[in-house]
Amino acid sequence: MIEPGVILMKAVRVQAFTQRPDDIGIDEVPLPEPAHGQIRVRMLMCPVHPSDFHFVRGIYYQALERVIWNQGRTAADPRVCFDPGRSNECPVPPYTLGAEGVGIVDASGGGLLAKHLVGKRVAVGGGGPPNGVWQEFAIVNARRAVAVPDSLPDEQAAMYLANPISAYVMVKEVLKVPRNSWLLVTAAGSALGKSVVRIGKREGFRTICVVRSSANTAELASLGADAVVETDHVDLVTEVARLTGGQGVRSALDCVGGSLTGQVLRCLGLNGQLVVYGTLADAPIEFPARDLMMPLAQVTGFYLGNWMAQQSPLRLLRLLHAVKRLTAEGVFETDVSGTYPLEQVSAAVAASIKPGRTGKVMLRIGTR
Ligand SMILES: NC(=O)c1ccc[n+]([C@@H]2O[C@H](COP(=O)([O-])OP(=O)(O)OC[C@H]3O[C@@H](n4cnc5c(N)ncnc54)[C@H](OP(=O)(O)O)[C@@H]3O)[C@@H](O)[C@H]2O)c1
Repeated sequence: MIEPGVILMKAVRVQAFTQRPDDIGIDEVPLPEPAHGQIRVRMLMCPVHPSDFHFVRGIYYQALERVIWNQGRTAADPRVCFDPGRSNECPVPPYTLGAEGVGIVDASGGGLLAKHLVGKRVAVGGGGPPNGVWQEFAIVNARRAVAVPDSLPDEQAAMYLANPISAYVMVKEVLKVPRNSWLLVTAAGSALGKSVVRIGKREGFRTICVVRSSANTAELASLGADAVVETDHVDLVTEVARLTGGQGVRSALDCVGGSLTGQVLRCLGLNGQLVVYGTLADAPIEFPARDLMMPLAQVTGFYLGNWMAQQSPLRLLRLLHAVKRLTAEGVFETDVSGTYPLEQVSAAVAASIKPGRTGKVMLRIGTR
């Protein structure tokens, strides 16, 4: 029941976990007020990321139900949490979607940083449901907002945080990919995959891009990929053996899972390292134990939210500076394949999960 006189706005919401983009709806909800340390952002534009659809389908919730710190939940505290400290609950619908985007700060709830951001165009991220940013006005912790330069178009500013930071951290901090070594990256036609190729050109390591079709092959080659392997008609392990003179790759990034990850593991050279950071195939990884043992391989998982929660404020600040510098150089530039108004969010999400996209699907929520 909405009180008379309450100002309403549009928000993109799901009522329950669902596999169907058509179940995503637009609700009229009260205009929210920021609390201390928070800002209210008039949203301009947001990308549709794979993670947004994960929140529709309940992928995070199902994954977190399995982790050790969510076993033994009690009736008094049945929450499923992202962290062992149980401070970051994984929400369940109904909730508002939207992991990141760009907007203009129209109000502050007080606090130095929040006040300082009023009137600025900011990239916001890291929140997602229950109070995601796919709405006309979003409430965001001021520490999760970064003022963006005027010169950066809304499309790029809307994708300023999640993929660039993840790509940078996995390559530079987790894998520490050495110059002249090989890095293999799966779903390489993704926004994140293309950024990794550009980082490779800049830092002097070689990239093997693994894709399931030719949709992004020409672009990956033009960005400087050293090789593109189309797994719909090429055997990955044979090709990587050929490319690396039988030595295999030193580093690999996989966001697909399923049988592909088992093949990626077989592409690692001695002491090779694989980082698993996505589940696009939605299938468990399977491989013989000795595929791991014989090359002394290391397999590591990566989830940006939990990684960032473990870093000091100073380290995060340095990270943001590094990402800002690379953004200015165009390292994280992302193509857009279609832009939809908020009202067509179901069509936008359906377009985002179609195979063979060559750029991001965007939601246009407002104008500058
Ligand atoms: N762990 C973390 O903290 C973290 C942070 C950021 C992003 N991510 C993950 O990074 C990945 C890439 O994100 P993005 O935003 O860059 O993606 P994106 O630009 O939306 O592109 C997704 C790509 O995935 C490919 N793909 C989809 N399903 C596939 C399948 N079953 N097998 C092979 N390829 C498949 C598509 O290739 P086609 O052209 O063949 O259709 C498309 O190129 C996602 O898994 C995302 O969840 C993880």
